Amino acid sequence: MGRGAFTAFGPGKVILLGEHAVVYGHPALAGPLPLGVTARAVAASRCALSVPKRLTGLKRKLLLEAFERLASACGHPAVSVSLKSDLPPSMGLGSSAAVSVACARVLLHAAGGSARPERVARLAAEMERVFHGTPSGIDHTTSALGRLIRYRRRSGRLLGEVRAVDCPKPLRLLIALVGERSPTRIVVAALKGRRERYQSRYVRLFAEIGRLVEEGKTAIESGDLEGLGDAMNVNQGLLAALQLSSPRIDQMVYRLRRMGALGAKLTGAGGDGGAVIGLFREPEPAVARLAKDGVRCFVAQLAGPLAL
Ligand code: PMV
Repeated sequence: MGRGAFTAFGPGKVILLGEHAVVYGHPALAGPLPLGVTARAVAASRCALSVPKRLTGLKRKLLLEAFERLASACGHPAVSVSLKSDLPPSMGLGSSAAVSVACARVLLHAAGGSARPERVARLAAEMERVFHGTPSGIDHTTSALGRLIRYRRRSGRLLGEVRAVDCPKPLRLLIALVGERSPTRIVVAALKGRRERYQSRYVRLFAEIGRLVEEGKTAIESGDLEGLGDAMNVNQGLLAALQLSSPRIDQMVYRLRRMGALGAKLTGAGGDGGAVIGLFREPEPAVARLAKDGVRCFVAQLAGPLAL
């Protein structure tokens, strides 16, 4: 490595359709956000991560443990890594995956290896396992590939099945953040418990979500924004049936629809709060109105691959 510092970016992600069902082997659609995490590496006497001061307790412990796993897989290149994020944490926008991908890229670079997206995804998976236990892999795969994908988990494999999704019409999303929420692994574990108890009912609902994903993919590829919006609305209904929504998520979903969203739903793990997405032809007026009311929100466009 030269003496100068260098950086690598890991984008956040947004799940358009299929969260949770993806954990049980159904497909899901997700794309990268322009917001994310930047890892900066400078030459040092040993491989280390400087953890942001605001991170304490379990979060700090998990981050250090995850970084150590990655560092060991990369042969402990002699760099000190620091992180900067413009992604709201614990909101369903893939902040831990963005950390994992940014760290994987920067350490691969420091170790002089190639940072091909598949390699980055494989390494990031090691970190994500520390953060989440048994993630489906959709978050870090979307972040590593930096494009809209249809993803399906493959059991026992680090990399899932990935197909690039062509997007002839840009997908313009309004992303609104509503309140705090529980960590993904807690929401996922509670759902697992309900699924074990009411297996055939939950299996049916997950399968239906899987079908919506395929219909949504066809809608995206044929430029049918209304069709995609409808799939998102029905997906939200099923997520609510699975007890993954909440009054504040529901209120925002209805608000976005009233403001002209073709479809609106929670994105990511859901639970008490988190991120809600609305698909709009023109999201700017709705963003301006929400921002005026103090809602944290922004516009993200999913189109061709991100230049990483
Ligand atoms: O809320 P997030 O960004 O952690 O998204 C998790 C997506 C889930 O489908 C709920 C879990 C997973 O591992 O895929």
